[in-house]
Amino acid sequence: MTFSDIPKTELHLHLEGAAPPAFIRRLAAEKGVRMDGVFDENGAYVWATFVEFLATYEQACEVLKTPEDFGRLMAAVLAEQAANGVVYTEHFLAPDFCGGGDLVAWKEYLAAMVEAAEASPVEVRFIPTCVRHMGPEHARITARITAETAGGLVTGFGMGGDESQYSAADFAYAFDMAREAGLGITSHAGEVEGPDSVRETLDALRPGRIGHGVRSVEDPALVERLAAEGVVLEVCPGSNIALGIYADLKAHPISALRDAGVAVTVSTDDPPYFHTDMTAEYRGLSEQLGWTQDDLDAINRAAMKAAFCDEATRAKLLATFNGA
Ligand code: ADE
Ligand code: ZN
Repeated sequence: MTFSDIPKTELHLHLEGAAPPAFIRRLAAEKGVRMDGVFDENGAYVWATFVEFLATYEQACEVLKTPEDFGRLMAAVLAEQAANGVVYTEHFLAPDFCGGGDLVAWKEYLAAMVEAAEASPVEVRFIPTCVRHMGPEHARITARITAETAGGLVTGFGMGGDESQYSAADFAYAFDMAREAGLGITSHAGEVEGPDSVRETLDALRPGRIGHGVRSVEDPALVERLAAEGVVLEVCPGSNIALGIYADLKAHPISALRDAGVAVTVSTDDPPYFHTDMTAEYRGLSEQLGWTQDDLDAINRAAMKAAFCDEATRAKLLATFNGA
């Protein structure tokens, strides 16, 4: 079996961040939108720091205007994931880019994305996500329209964006609203900020999963807490390395976290920005960290156990991974 053939789950993927540069360029040309500074001479996304990455990302999103654009994007991203062996995925979607918080507009965007998702062989669930640096008021609006549309493929609520802005507690009201609507909870933390950010997020937002969370490794007591409470980390090694958080895979804490009893899963985050895909992630774990097929099966089982899906889907997908 080649690395691309291995069946995979991917819990942490931003739909807009997975847009291939050629897809964004084509839309920009169709709409006559200028994309100054977004691409380099080779057509790749341009950024150097975490904050620049977020800025380029938001600039690229400016061409994604209509529900149809998002439906096309969903179809393109799922085709790419299927080619990398992904059988189950959850997509972070930012309603701020889909109608700016208007419920009627959001429903139209959602309908277009659901149609594309249902046409794909990949099993998909959606995690509408607030953008931390847009602030708590935006987050409340995002949580409200997510709660209004909970059910079907909308099964989670999350937060991305600049982790250095605001404190996790500022977003507690939004997350409580989402939890009351029955949504699974995840939030980025411990990616660019350290263990305190993860601890605050656990205390204030009570997520079952943490996006990244890798810098928890700097605090043994926190690692113990994650293991004891069964909090699942959505680890994205290629993303962390591209953003300069770790020099390379050998310096990455994924194996240490796993060996300390923390449930880890593997995803790509924003693959074209970070020059990665799920095949490359699995190849790296195997060839550079010595992970076996059993180890890879274990992360997929951990992911399916933590997936924001119904029990029938969970059982069906768990059976895909050996030793379920
Ligand atoms: N939004 C998209 N990718 C992100 C990341 N890696 N961290 C925070 N917010 C994001
Ligand atoms: Zn992310």
